[in-house]
Amino acid sequence: MFLQTVRSPRSFNFWRRLQRTLMVRTVKAQTHPSAPGTASCLQIPLPSERETRALGGALARCARIGDVFLLRGELGSGKTVVARGFLQTFHRDPLLEVTSPTYLLDLPYPDLEGNALLPHATVHHLDLYRVGNAADRSIVDFEHIFRECISLIEWPERLSEWLLPPHHLEVWLRFVPDDETGRTAELVGSASGGRAEGEVRWTQTELEQLCNLLRVNE
Ligand SMILES: Nc1ncnc2c1ncn2[C@@H]1O[C@H](COP(=O)(O)OP(=O)(O)O)[C@@H](O)[C@H]1O
Ligand SMILES: [Mg+2]
Repeated sequence: MFLQTVRSPRSFNFWRRLQRTLMVRTVKAQTHPSAPGTASCLQIPLPSERETRALGGALARCARIGDVFLLRGELGSGKTVVARGFLQTFHRDPLLEVTSPTYLLDLPYPDLEGNALLPHATVHHLDLYRVGNAADRSIVDFEHIFRECISLIEWPERLSEWLLPPHHLEVWLRFVPDDETGRTAELVGSASGGRAEGEVRWTQTELEQLCNLLRVNE
């Protein structure tokens, strides 16, 4: 099986892609300019949409109730693709339709039948791009979903910082210059108290485990 893969005509590209994916590296985060006091940081190359979806899948495998993922990046950088990978993996349904919730603000994905990775959990996919005023914000019961559900938030900068729980994980998506399908992801963990008593979320060790999940996916 292994040798067959190596001999196939696509083997060179396959191994090059794999190598690029494995170039995931972990760095100390004290130097991250936008996150003073941050404890962990991980950079991941995403050569194509497939790897971006896989990143969402790896995040889903690490997710716990109360987790909040902040999907940051310009229009078209791949935030919805990460959310799609997350939701399809979380609900064990590769065909699950995940569209951008831009006009709806909040799309909940409840697990009614108990088949999800965390049975009966609800994942909220929020896109706050069009949030303009406090009235819009009050449509969503953030306090409830941050406590009882899992949240994937596009354009989280539209929310007041004080609303965000301290244990969120930031996912920064960036374009690669002169590469139409190239993106990079930078994960920045706050390594502070989680929802559960005594729990610390997103330590460097946890980000390294996530990195291992990406390797397994390949
Ligand atoms: N490496 C990549 N990762 C994610 N999306 C990619 C990548 N390369 C190309 N794309 C394309 O870029 C677009 C990203 O769209 P989307 O996820 O909706 O962006 P956003 O939600 O950040 O505005 C999709 O059309 C996708 O097919
Ligand atoms: Mg989007």
